[in-house]
Amino acid sequence: MTAPITDRLDDPETARTEGQRKMDWARQHMPILRSLRESFEANRPLEGETVAMAMHVEAKTAVLAELLAAGGADVAIAGCNPLSTQDDVSAALDAVDGVTSYARRGVDTDAYYDAIEATIAHEPTITVDDGADLVTRIHELHEDLVPDILGGCEETTTGVHRLRSMDEDGALDYPMFAVNDTPMKRLFDNVHGTGESAMSNIAMTTNLSIAGKTVVVAGYGYCGRGVAKKAAGMNADVVVTEVDPRRALEAHMEGYDVKPMNEAAAEGDIFVTTTGNRDVITRDDFAKMQDGALLANAGHFDVEINLEQLADDTVDRREVRDGIEEYELEDGRRLHVLAEGRLVNLAGPLSMGHPVEVMDQSFGVQAVCVRELVETAYESGVHEVPDELDREVAEVKLDAEGIATDDLTDAQIDYMDSWSHGT
Ligand code: NAI
Repeated sequence: MTAPITDRLDDPETARTEGQRKMDWARQHMPILRSLRESFEANRPLEGETVAMAMHVEAKTAVLAELLAAGGADVAIAGCNPLSTQDDVSAALDAVDGVTSYARRGVDTDAYYDAIEATIAHEPTITVDDGADLVTRIHELHEDLVPDILGGCEETTTGVHRLRSMDEDGALDYPMFAVNDTPMKRLFDNVHGTGESAMSNIAMTTNLSIAGKTVVVAGYGYCGRGVAKKAAGMNADVVVTEVDPRRALEAHMEGYDVKPMNEAAAEGDIFVTTTGNRDVITRDDFAKMQDGALLANAGHFDVEINLEQLADDTVDRREVRDGIEEYELEDGRRLHVLAEGRLVNLAGPLSMGHPVEVMDQSFGVQAVCVRELVETAYESGVHEVPDELDREVAEVKLDAEGIATDDLTDAQIDYMDSWSHGT
């Protein structure tokens, strides 16, 4: 069984100090989690609960994990991507009272699942997932734990898709909140968080300009909208590819070129996939790409760019810069894949994930959902997060920003609730 990270590092103390510094910085910019922490410490809503988490283990996630521990939970955490853990943060988190961290960067598939198994060995009563690997693992291999699980929370679109499929198949045996689908998460994290962090990581990893380039964004969902907007804001020409006619039209009305990938392939300097789907860029597209094209993925799994096909068609392959692998094709063209085709904003050597303020919102929703699972019993299946919880998080954030809003008057509430008024 995987040991906690502290037992696996050569110099855990130095790592811990650096990790704590990163957590201090994040904490300073997370007013929602700070405010929740005051109430969690005072009321201990999670006393006696065990929370297993599979998340990107970096500073913002660490602040969420320590908040849950401050609320009384025993917390065990593993990564949700083999490349997104920051070992120093994982070590700092492992030193927090009530938290055990098993996450380590750069592990192979077996070690990745061993770490998730180690969190399951804590016998969780609540699970917090990003991508649904933890909840599916529990259902596949540890059904005996299910009766004691109050429920769980899912952070991302791909995880919610997986859970809805489980639910439709009658295979989801405890309640799960679709945290991803709340306004406070999806409209900010997926759009602005992914947009800013994906484009800034591409710029930093390559040290190349975005301005004047053609950026092809695959998928115009929440993440795609953000990536397209930030790329356009950095003075790129943006081309969007889609399979949904309404989203294609939306992109068109925003002023972007919309075309099939196989046409866009010949034009793009930079490709960013944000679909949550597989085989979005394939052999037929590689065949048309320009020498030097950059390929990055911002969707949850590393299946959007078909790297197996690319490797098959490659005569030579080398790392040309940290986080950039060059694939040389038979005709001499070179295609450059960032972060091994994994989430470019989280898995690259310079990646730090979303901006702190954005994750404060997403994790604020996570924390109130964990509290809600203890306070209220839910049926098995995927649940929308109750609107009042999302509003609670928004109000704390507005307060922290010093932004005031108007309140509805009684007459306005009556008017909005009534069907009997007309011209
Ligand atoms: P979404 O469902 O809003 O958007 C996905 C879009 O891709 C849809 O409009 C869909 O029609 C389109 N699409 C599907 N297959 C396609 C294909 N073959 N070609 C072109 N378009 C296609 O989902 P959302 O919220 O934008 O999430 C997308 C992915 O990003 C998910 O895997 C999600 O888990 C992940 N994600 C990543 C984050 C990050 O930090 N990088 C943050 C949040 C989500």
